[in-house]
Amino acid sequence: MKEHTVKLAILKQLSQGGFHSGEELGQQFGVSRAAISKHIKGIQQWGVDIFRIQGKGYQLAKPLQLLDEKMLSENTTKPLELIPIIDSTNQYLLERVDSLQSGSVCIAEYQGKGRGRRGREWVSPFGSNLYMSMFWRLDAGMAAAMGLSLVVGVAVVEALQEVGIEGVKLKWPNDLYYQDKKLAGILVEMSGQAGAAANLVIGMGMNLMMPAQTPGITQPWTSVEEILQGRSFDRNQLAVALVNALHQVLSDYELHGMNHFVERWNPLDNFLGRKVKLLMGEREIVGIERGINEQGAVLLETEQGIEAFIGGEISLRGQD
Ligand code: ATP
Ligand code: BTN
Repeated sequence: MKEHTVKLAILKQLSQGGFHSGEELGQQFGVSRAAISKHIKGIQQWGVDIFRIQGKGYQLAKPLQLLDEKMLSENTTKPLELIPIIDSTNQYLLERVDSLQSGSVCIAEYQGKGRGRRGREWVSPFGSNLYMSMFWRLDAGMAAAMGLSLVVGVAVVEALQEVGIEGVKLKWPNDLYYQDKKLAGILVEMSGQAGAAANLVIGMGMNLMMPAQTPGITQPWTSVEEILQGRSFDRNQLAVALVNALHQVLSDYELHGMNHFVERWNPLDNFLGRKVKLLMGEREIVGIERGINEQGAVLLETEQGIEAFIGGEISLRGQD
């Protein structure tokens, strides 16, 4: 068996609940107790909290709801692959754009090199969040991609509302916030040439039940678990709802573009009417955020009046 295969089998066993001794696990998977102990350390490095009690064995500190490829595929309409351990779901699809059907999805339990904008790290511990990417061939070409990335954020917030997760807002261009803390990030990457169809990979990382002590995140963050305050939810069902919402919004965008979209975005804008700073390389501009325009640019009111800003190199920060 491959190394990951044993670890994943151990996790599946532990996710049933209760204690499991090293001896029992060793016998089950045909390896020594020492090998089990090594695998457990590896699993802990993926960010799973497992503890051991002498004489009883190993137990998960928190129940795990593993993703189920069959359930996900049966409830969505395009090819979907669950690859439990991966570097980056965006990278995986980007490397395969020539052979993929538009709408194909890749989902993971853990990313070793999850990434955010401009090469920043997306912290991706095992089994506690969602890491998903979708490939989309956009015939309108690259110029239409900026608008698309905003539309995706709105579709995700609306899909969350439909399953009872209320109060999630957007930070331009495409982060999801709840009470000023980051819940999810969207990363749109593309390959293709100007003038031709654009091959887009739309990736989303959403925190579901990430442990509070997870290291490596440099800004306030939250999770679905925190928003729901004890109300339970089903990780697979949420993944299905989000995949289907993305498929729907991408098809709609191809037909209607950004038509009537500003009205959907502005009520969800986390910084509407608030003081913000735009960072653009060396340049910084402070002003009051006034939502977006029909091109998807963010509007900033300064002493010069209202100006529109657009482009992948701009970052927005709250200032109040
Ligand atoms: P912007 O995109 O506007 O420039 P940002 O600070 O949101 O700003 P991104 O590149 O979008 O930056 O996101 C990456 C940042 O998100 C990292 O710098 C890290 O601090 C934070 N981060 C990483 N993993 C997570 C996570 N799982 N949940 C919340 N935040 C995370
Ligand atoms: C951001 O806020 O900067 C965007 C974060 C995007 C993270 C997701 S997780 C799935 C997909 N694969 C990646 O490597 N990144 C995106």
